[in-house]
Parts: sequence; C-alpha cells; structure tokens
Amino acid sequence: MESNSDYKLEIIDDLIRQSARDRRRLAPNEIVVAMARPAEVVEFDRRSTLMALLSDDEIGRLKRFRFERDRDLFLVAHGLVRITLSRHENVEPQAWRFRTNSYGRPEIVEPRSRQRFSLSHGHGLAACAVVLDRDIGLDVECISKDLHAEVAERFFSEQERSNLHHASANARGRLFLEYWTLKEAYLKARGLGLSFPLNQFSMHAGADGRWRLASGPPLYQDPERWRFWSWCVADDQHQVALALDQADFTERTA
Ligand SMILES: CC(C)(COP(=O)(O)OP(=O)(O)OC[C@H]1O[C@@H](n2cnc3c(N)ncnc32)[C@H](O)[C@@H]1OP(=O)(O)O)[C@@H](O)C(=O)NCCC(=O)NCCS
Repeated sequence: MESNSDYKLEIIDDLIRQSARDRRRLAPNEIVVAMARPAEVVEFDRRSTLMALLSDDEIGRLKRFRFERDRDLFLVAHGLVRITLSRHENVEPQAWRFRTNSYGRPEIVEPRSRQRFSLSHGHGLAACAVVLDRDIGLDVECISKDLHAEVAERFFSEQERSNLHHASANARGRLFLEYWTLKEAYLKARGLGLSFPLNQFSMHAGADGRWRLASGPPLYQDPERWRFWSWCVADDQHQVALALDQADFTERTA
C-alpha cells in the first residue's frame, strides 16, 4: 500500500465480530477503513443482532433483494457503517439516522457528528471509510482477469486509455483496476453520482508512488487538495481505492 505520512490509515478487518467495544475518538488526520464479509455473520444470532441495528428504511431495502447472497451483503455493509461510526462516538449503532443527498450519497443527519463516511460493497466484501470533516470516497471492485473494454471506453480519459494500451500485458489488468477504483472513489467523494463526467479527468501515479488527479475545466479543482490510496486486499480478490478531499468540509466554500 502507498504510504501518505501526513495521514494515518487504519484498516480493520474484524469489526463486525468485535463490535464497537474499543470506542475511541478519531484524530483529525486519521482515516479508518473497516471491512466485513457476509461469511462472518452466518450464525443466526449474529445476523439478528445486525438486523436490529438497521432502520426500517434499510430493512425495506434489504428485503427487496431477490437473492440471499445480496441481502446478506447489504446487511453486513449497513451494519458495518453503524458499528464503525459508533466506534468513534458515544452513540449506539442503531441510533444513527441518515439522509441521502440529491445524487444518493448517504450522510449522517442525527445525532450531529463530524464523521463523514463512504460505503462500498460487492462480490462478498463490504468496506466503509470514515474520517472527520472531509469528503471521502471508497470503492472496492472484484479482481478478475477480464478487462472491461466498455468501461475503459466510456469512463476513462484519453490519457488513461493510452497508458493502458501501452502497459505490458502483465501490468494492464492491475492498472485497469487501479484506474477504475480510484475514479469511482473520487466520484463518490464528490458525491455527484453518475452525473459526474468520469472521462474528463485522469488518475496518474507520480514518481513518488502517490496517485494524483489531473483535471481541467469544467472539473478543475486544485489537484493537491486530493489524496488517494490504492491497494489490494489480503484476500487477493478485491482492489480498494480511497479518495480524500483535504479541504475541511465545514470551512469549504467551493
Ligand atoms: C452509487 C455509485 C456512486 C457507486 O456504485 P457502485 O460502485 O455500483 O457501488 P458501491 O458498492 O461502490 O457503492 C454503493 C454505495 O455508495 C453510496 N452512494 C450512493 N450514491 C452515492 C453518491 N452519489 N456519492 C457517494 N456515495 C454514494 C451508498 O452508500 C451505496 O450503498 P447503498 O446503496 O447500500 O446505500 C454510482 O455512482 C454508480 O453506480 N457508479 C458506477 C459508475 C461507473 O460505471 N463507473 C465505471 C468505472 S470508472
């Protein structure tokens, strides 16, 4: 994983099991990424404990999934968000209330909190990133050998497509997934959903190994405002990317 020494990135893999017993405050430059898998909640009582954390709205959404596999992932993902938030504040996991912005991004509405989060779930893994006062975006994708040419064609910039084209056969799959997850993480941090023109900006890795953003009008934002992380989960089956807007959300005007 890349190291950005000005932030402390904690990755937790078993929060659902240990619950929020070790409550502690988040530090201003600390980011927590918690991960969980449906396989961790196969026992009936663990599943019903998680179910009791969800709101009526979440339970309604969960019930609309046709397959048990998808219901379980949704349960774990939304339980994980609540448990992770409660790890950092004296609030019971079931007490959090959320609303979505007009593009679907969930945000905490009650109780008032400085925590902001991003959730991603797919292919047997749920992950949730939490930070104070900053916009954050997280994406997980399944690592597969397939290159989804239509994804690159529609959503990658010309520069990214050219870099993919010139990458060695060995490096191409990894680069594709890095672009995909980083772009998606950035999109989620911006909270603008599919209205966001993903092919209008590029991700590129600097000589120092850090991922950076290259964007021009109409998206232009100071690229140095953003920090990115990209890594492969220890299961070797998922690629994760994290995007952080370093501008304080509460002081920001643009
Ligand atoms: C929702 C979206 C932001 C991401 O969807 P996704 O990658 O399929 O799914 P993920 O599991 O990573 O994220 C889903 C979660 O993101 C959150 N989310 C929803 N809308 C969001 C938004 N506008 N901004 C930030 N987060 C959002 C929700 O918590 C959602 O979980 P929930 O539905 O259980 O509440 C949506 O923009 C999307 O479908 N993007 C796909 C764009 C694409 O095709 N990219 C190609 C590769 S570059």
